[in-house]
Amino acid sequence: MRFSSFGEKFSTPSGILTLMEDISAALAGDPNILMLGGGNPASIEPVNAQFRAALARLADDPALFSATLGAYDGPTGHARLKARLAAFLSEQCSWPVSEANIAITNGSQNAFFTIFNLLAGRHSDGTFRRIVLPLAPEYIGYEAQSIDRPFFVSRRPVIDRLGERLFKYRIDFDGFELPDNAAAICVSRPTNPSGNVLTDPEVQRLDEIAARAGIPLIIDNAYGAPFPNIIHADVTPAWNENTIMCLSLSKIGLPACRTGIVVAQPEIIDAIGSINAITNLAPGSMGAALALDLLENDQLTQLCHSEIRPFYADMAAKALGWFNDAMGSTPGLAHKPEGAFFLWLWFPDLPVNSQQLYERLKKRGVIIVPGHHFFPGLAADDWRHRHECIRVSYAQPETHVQRGMEIIAQEVTRAYNGH
Ligand SMILES: Cc1ncc(COP(=O)(O)O)c(C=O)c1O
Repeated sequence: MRFSSFGEKFSTPSGILTLMEDISAALAGDPNILMLGGGNPASIEPVNAQFRAALARLADDPALFSATLGAYDGPTGHARLKARLAAFLSEQCSWPVSEANIAITNGSQNAFFTIFNLLAGRHSDGTFRRIVLPLAPEYIGYEAQSIDRPFFVSRRPVIDRLGERLFKYRIDFDGFELPDNAAAICVSRPTNPSGNVLTDPEVQRLDEIAARAGIPLIIDNAYGAPFPNIIHADVTPAWNENTIMCLSLSKIGLPACRTGIVVAQPEIIDAIGSINAITNLAPGSMGAALALDLLENDQLTQLCHSEIRPFYADMAAKALGWFNDAMGSTPGLAHKPEGAFFLWLWFPDLPVNSQQLYERLKKRGVIIVPGHHFFPGLAADDWRHRHECIRVSYAQPETHVQRGMEIIAQEVTRAYNGH
C-alpha cells in the first residue's frame, strides 16, 4: 500500500497509540494486570447511578429517544445543549458567552486536532506557525497531532522542591518570549501528567502575553472547573474572547460518549463546525443528551462537588501515602497533586531510563506511562529529567494502586542498586 505523507505520518507509532493500545490490551486480557497507565476515569458508583438514571429517562421517552438517536445534530452540535450550557456558564462562571461561542466535538482530543491544525502549520503567506506550550511536561496526546511537520515548541519549567518527597513545576517566565511565528499558547489546567494547576496569576500573565501578540490562549480544561472540577487548588476558571476553552465529559466518567465542548469566539466555533461537517458530518449526540439531562436536573455540578472531586482528593492523599510508605529510604519524589488523577513520580539520577522502567514494570504486571512522552515540543537536549519520570494513575481500585506503588518502589530500588 502506498500511503500519502499524511497516511505515513499518522500510521506510524506514537506515544498516544501505545498508551491506548496498552489500555485496551489490559482491559481485554489478564485481570491481574495493574492498569495504572491509562487516562480512564474511576468508576464511582453514585455517579454511575445518576448516569444510568439519565440514560433510562432518555430510553423511556419515545420522542426524545428518536430526536437524540434518530437524527444528526448540526455541525457545531446539539442545539439545546449549547443553549443550556451558555446559560449555565454565564450564571455559574460569569463567562460572557452565548450559544454562538460553543461547539460540541467528538471528544476534546478531536477538538485539539482541529484547533491546532486550524491555527498552526503552513499558512498561505508562506509562514510556518507554532503552538507554544509554556510548560513541559504537557499532555502526551498533543505530540503527534500536527498534519504538517511538528509545530509544538515548549519550555522547561522551574522546579520547586516543596518538602522531602514533593516538588512542583512553575512556568519559567524569566526570558519567556514568544517566537515570532507563534500561532497560539496552550496549557492543560490541571496538567496531565503532573497534576500541576497553574495559578490564576500565571494564567492571567499568559492571557496578557497572548493578547499582546494577537494570538489565542488555549486552555485544556479536561479535568478542570466547572466540570469535572478535579482541582484541589483554589483557582477560578476565567474566559474571555481570546480564550479557547476546551471541556470534556470524559473525566466526569463518560469517556466512551466521546463528547468535547469548545468555548471560543464565534470565528473559531464556525471553523470547527465547517471541519466537523467535512470530517464527521456532525458530532455524536448521546453524550450531549446526557449532559443536557444532568444540567436540567441540576446534577452536573452537584455530582462534581459532592462525589467526583472528594473521591479524587481522597485517592490523591492515599496514593501519596502509599508511595511514601513503599519508597522507604529509596530516593524519589512526587509532583504535588493539585488536580487530575495522576501521580507524576520523579527518580533523580535513576540508572535506567523511563522507557526501561516501563518495560520492567510491565513484566511485573504493572502498566504505567513512561515520562519521556510528555515533553512535546521540547528540543532534544541532554535534560535527564525527561527520562527520570513516570505517570501513575490513581483512578483505579485502591488495592491496585497500593500494590502498584509497592512494585514500582521495588523496581526503582533494584535499579538504583544497579540491578
Ligand atoms: C489533558 C487532556 N486533554 C484532553 C484529553 C482528551 O480527552 P477526551 O478526548 O476524552 O475528551 C485528555 C484525555 O486523557 C487529557 O488528559
